[in-house]
Amino acid sequence: MELMQGLLTRRSVRRYQNKPIPKPVIEEIIKAAQYSPTAHNRQPWEFLVIEDKEFMAELRHIQRWTSFAKDAACVVIVCGDVEKSFSRFKEDETWSFIDVDCAIATQSLLLAAWAKGIGSCYCGAAPMQRVVDALRTRLNLPKNIRPFAIVPLGYPDETPKQPDDRYKPERIHWIEKVGKD
Ligand SMILES: Cc1cc2nc3c(=O)[nH]c(=O)nc-3n(C[C@H](O)[C@H](O)[C@H](O)COP(=O)(O)O)c2cc1C
Repeated sequence: MELMQGLLTRRSVRRYQNKPIPKPVIEEIIKAAQYSPTAHNRQPWEFLVIEDKEFMAELRHIQRWTSFAKDAACVVIVCGDVEKSFSRFKEDETWSFIDVDCAIATQSLLLAAWAKGIGSCYCGAAPMQRVVDALRTRLNLPKNIRPFAIVPLGYPDETPKQPDDRYKPERIHWIEKVGKD
């Protein structure tokens, strides 16, 4: 699929066929996510591929807007490693690019899946602390691993409507010269 076409046609898919996704296809999708840009090129991520239907059904109790995840072929939990991310934790400076890096990887994952005819939906975990904690506990993750996003994957069983109001030229601000005052 051509990149521009993929960017314009990807939509959240929440209904899936009862059909498994071959492991090499999932690997290729995650490979694409791993080519995403990251702050200082730290690549501070881990990807959990979960095919456990019981857990997938349980997810809605952890994150309430994931009820459809139970019907997916699998769920990818995109995680960040806080120890690997580009960050500063000093008295006068506290910041981390971890969520930014994970968000970009998640978008790449959605697009790579779409390019392979697979539907997905970005479901947020971080920065909802309760969800992050619940996932970390349930999946027995070490403290440095921050569950960032929950991404159900599956062959689409719906064709979501393409929006016709996304492009808003008025949100583009052309600045020829920046004034000094
Ligand atoms: C940070 C983030 C969190 C989201 N969380 C959820 C979610 O929990 N459940 C859900 O069904 N969709 C979730 N979405 C998907 C949005 O609802 C969806 O992207 C938006 O409605 C636009 O539709 P589109 O993806 O088809 O373009 C989330 C999207 C983002 C970017």
